[in-house]
Amino acid sequence: MNTPPQTQPQKRPIIFSAMQPTSGSGGGLTIGNYIGALKNWVELQKDYDCVYGVVDLHALTIHPEPAALRKQTLDVAAMYIASGIDPEKSLVFLQSHVPAHAQCAWLLNCFASMGECQKMTQFKEKSEKHSARVGLFTYPVLQAADILLYQANLVPVGEDQKQHLELSRNLAERFNHHYSETFTVPEVFIPKVGARVMSLQDPTKKMSKSDENPKATIFLTDSADEIRNKIKRAVTDSGSEIRSGDDRPALTNLLELYGVATGTSVEAAEQHFLGKGYAEFKAELADAMVAMVEPITKRFHAIRNDKAALNAILKKGAEEANRRAMRTLRKAYKKMGLVELE
Ligand code: AMP
Ligand code: TRP
Repeated sequence: MNTPPQTQPQKRPIIFSAMQPTSGSGGGLTIGNYIGALKNWVELQKDYDCVYGVVDLHALTIHPEPAALRKQTLDVAAMYIASGIDPEKSLVFLQSHVPAHAQCAWLLNCFASMGECQKMTQFKEKSEKHSARVGLFTYPVLQAADILLYQANLVPVGEDQKQHLELSRNLAERFNHHYSETFTVPEVFIPKVGARVMSLQDPTKKMSKSDENPKATIFLTDSADEIRNKIKRAVTDSGSEIRSGDDRPALTNLLELYGVATGTSVEAAEQHFLGKGYAEFKAELADAMVAMVEPITKRFHAIRNDKAALNAILKKGAEEANRRAMRTLRKAYKKMGLVELE
């Protein structure tokens, strides 16, 4: 009797994304990181082969305090999992555990031009604040290595990373053209909803984990009381209507947050709050924020307190990431003419 043909499991497109464990003065991840990135990363697990790194080598460019870097690297990994990234489905690892990232960055450094690195907005901005190190200059080349090593098809990032992604694409194309097809040329993917969560104190500025004003940012580890207080003190626009619009940046941001946290549209939220005042709106928004953040915080503490389990996840992630990254690195070495011993 004929056995039915073995159906090959369909190869799913590959996603790569990553976050730095520290930026500026440090602090943990924010609801901006969750809404703008992690929430989408979790969704993408359904249809893609996802690789999520914690890019600790990138963080070294601004000289974080070693103990803080160590702590925050593990915090970010735990927060990935607390947000819903399933290490059984997706690859979660620390960049410094996979030497191929630094090795591949070197290969790509030999392809990147001074000019294209010099024109990167992030480099220009950061080199004004810190005395410019070479690491900051080649930061986007290391980022390209992160992505290209996993042959990623799609890279979900915030708007601000578009330029870095363009460099990754150019480097991949240049390498492929010079030798032969080696790296997949990745596409940038910028999610529309929640692409920019703004500061609660200045709605023209992005909410950031390194904001000097702690009232501006809701951290994923904030208590319910802290969240309620920050929402209560959030700046609003003049007038008393709960309405969004270009002339109402503060309310637009708060209504978008309400929409994301309750799964409703901004229009539906405006309808819901028609004729109601700021106090009532803020109380409901605070409830919705707490309901969104609290389960994440709880899972985060549970994961962070089980050191052995987190270690095991990161060890397994590193092994698999090394296996996949080395396959690409070896291919690139060979094409470039580096000797491989039998
Ligand atoms: P960062 O915290 O700047 O290192 O960013 C890590 C990831 O979170 C990137 O994908 C950002 O685009 C995203 N992200 C950070 N802050 C926000 C924000 N305020 N709104 C939306 N996304 C954000
Ligand atoms: N530069 C990115 C940021 O600041 C972090 C990052 C490093 C990254 N390597 C990456 C993002 C690879 C996407 C893919 O947010």
